[in-house]
Amino acid sequence: MCAVLVSVYSSAAVMLVHVVSLLCVLGAQAMELHRVTPTTSIKCVNCPSNVPSDAHSAPIVHCLCSSVPDRTVCSWADPPQATPLHYIATYSERQKQPVTRPCVLIPPGAPHSQLNLWHCHLPELKLLTNYILNVTAVYPGGSSSHLSTFMMEDIVKPDPPQAVQVSCQNSRTVQVKWDPPSTWAHIDIFPLKYELLYQWTSRGQLKFNHLGPFKRTSTPVSGLAVGRTYQFQVCAKDSLGLGHCSEWSAPVNITLPLHTHRV
Ligand SMILES: *[C@@H]1O[C@H](CO)[C@@H](O)[C@H](O)[C@H]1NC(C)=O
Ligand SMILES: *[C@@H]1O[C@H](CO)[C@@H](O)[C@H](O)[C@H]1NC(C)=O
Repeated sequence: MCAVLVSVYSSAAVMLVHVVSLLCVLGAQAMELHRVTPTTSIKCVNCPSNVPSDAHSAPIVHCLCSSVPDRTVCSWADPPQATPLHYIATYSERQKQPVTRPCVLIPPGAPHSQLNLWHCHLPELKLLTNYILNVTAVYPGGSSSHLSTFMMEDIVKPDPPQAVQVSCQNSRTVQVKWDPPSTWAHIDIFPLKYELLYQWTSRGQLKFNHLGPFKRTSTPVSGLAVGRTYQFQVCAKDSLGLGHCSEWSAPVNITLPLHTHRV
């Protein structure tokens, strides 16, 4: 439709062509932005006709970016029905098909990989770009591909903050401090913000409160009850709000003193 508009107006005024094509670019980008939900397509390629296609399952693949722009990893488990001979993992920019690049495969059990999961690493991705990932499971009698489309912005999820420490300031205030996740490599260019969760039990009921977001890596928390135990956790999120907050950090408990010791 954009192309038609351009050709209709191009003879009338060059300026208008520019305006229309700019709108087309913006329109195309807006459309791309809507196409972020992962889609799964399972198909059996070259299946012998006597083999039901579900005998060749495609893996179910999840992708996460734990450091913008160069740490995106996709992972999947072997399909339960049958173990493939091997996998072929490739990715491409939706606009630049059919130029595909290999997604670097890391087999289960390799150092730093979760048990039983295959991983593949997509070295450097661009923002505002739609990618197509193709993970093909190759079986003796055929193959089956999982296709998903994503933008890096939507799959950003840092690792949790590290070294969370809680110390008493006075009988009702604590100071919470933490370090950014060390895996988030470019914190100067892509800063993080943090959210704080603290929980306590009151008359047998679990209560909680959220604080933040903070750009700094420490905060006082006041208005706490003397003698009560509180559990603190922190999560990290890209400061522009891209993607998701990390998992909560490992809980740290502190019990506020019952008595204040004044001098
Ligand atoms: C996915 O990859 C497989 C193996 O390289 C290939 O045969 C298949 O055509 C690809 N599918 C698409 C839709 O690109
Ligand atoms: C930490 O505090 C929370 C909330 O009061 C409590 O549920 C949890 O059992 C505590 N954990 C430990 C190890 O004391």
